[in-house]
Amino acid sequence: MNQKNEKVCIMGLGNIGLPTAHYISKHYPTIGYDIKEQAILKAHQTGIPATSNPTQADIYVIAVNTYFRNNTPDMSAINSCCQNISQLNPDALVCFESTLQVGTARKMANTHNLKYIAVCPHRWWEEEQTEHGVKQLRVLGTLNNESLNKAQQFYNTLQIPTHIVSNIETAEATKIAENAHRYVQIAFAEELKIIASKNNLNFDEWRAAINTKWNTALLEARDGIGKECLPKDTAFLASLAQDTELLKGAMKTNDNYVQQFVTKTKNS
Ligand SMILES: NC(=O)c1ccc[n+]([C@@H]2O[C@H](COP(=O)([O-])OP(=O)(O)OC[C@H]3O[C@@H](n4cnc5c(N)ncnc54)[C@H](O)[C@@H]3O)[C@@H](O)[C@H]2O)c1
Repeated sequence: MNQKNEKVCIMGLGNIGLPTAHYISKHYPTIGYDIKEQAILKAHQTGIPATSNPTQADIYVIAVNTYFRNNTPDMSAINSCCQNISQLNPDALVCFESTLQVGTARKMANTHNLKYIAVCPHRWWEEEQTEHGVKQLRVLGTLNNESLNKAQQFYNTLQIPTHIVSNIETAEATKIAENAHRYVQIAFAEELKIIASKNNLNFDEWRAAINTKWNTALLEARDGIGKECLPKDTAFLASLAQDTELLKGAMKTNDNYVQQFVTKTKNS
């Protein structure tokens, strides 16, 4: 348990927030907060006290949804949490563990007068929770030195290793670039499969041959780039500048691939 007995509130008790709450509760008195009754119930059933009312704490860990909707990042759930924190305890350490569009954490600090901000996004992978769950190397960026001291103490107590970057924007941008990198790699495999189908090449044989080269690791082309994180984070990154043709092309390739290989298979 931490020496000062600081209380931690986890905001958002979904795929990421609930395991995070379980992990943190081994080190700090922990309470969960969510707007969905079902999430609160699940937290209670698994031993995490939880509430639908924002609650006083010394440290807030934000793990709510973020979206890309109508061609724009939607950070409204993040904003709502920060609004609550500013009323309850603006001196708290606020750790953003959700995936943010670049610039969000600073905007939240300025809008809601929050003093201590850390951005420490998850790299959580459901299928390998021991190696790639809550406790794994994460990138940490903070608003100022005081935030860094507080955040380092928090993540050290949790025994979560951190790679520290010099500002919050770099931490935000790292998370979305990691997922966009993966997106582009998969889209390249999909593009080769499209080319193979048009040129009478066997994609699996072609891929295996390509991968005999020492510096090549071509991924599989499976069912299109699904789930939420990769498409959303790639869209966040692509929206940061006008000339992001590679990212836009990768998204188009994935759409073409899904239409050609996935939808067709489903309909046949
Ligand atoms: N799922 C993953 O594998 C993964 C991995 C890395 C990062 N992330 C990021 O983590 C964040 C959360 O993802 P998730 O998969 O846990 O989502 P989720 O939908 O499983 O859970 C989000 C929870 O937040 C709650 N919530 C929404 N708005 C709220 C508000 N205003 N106040 C309180 N609670 C609110 C929802 O009711 C829900 O229970 C996202 O930003 C996501 O991109 C997810």
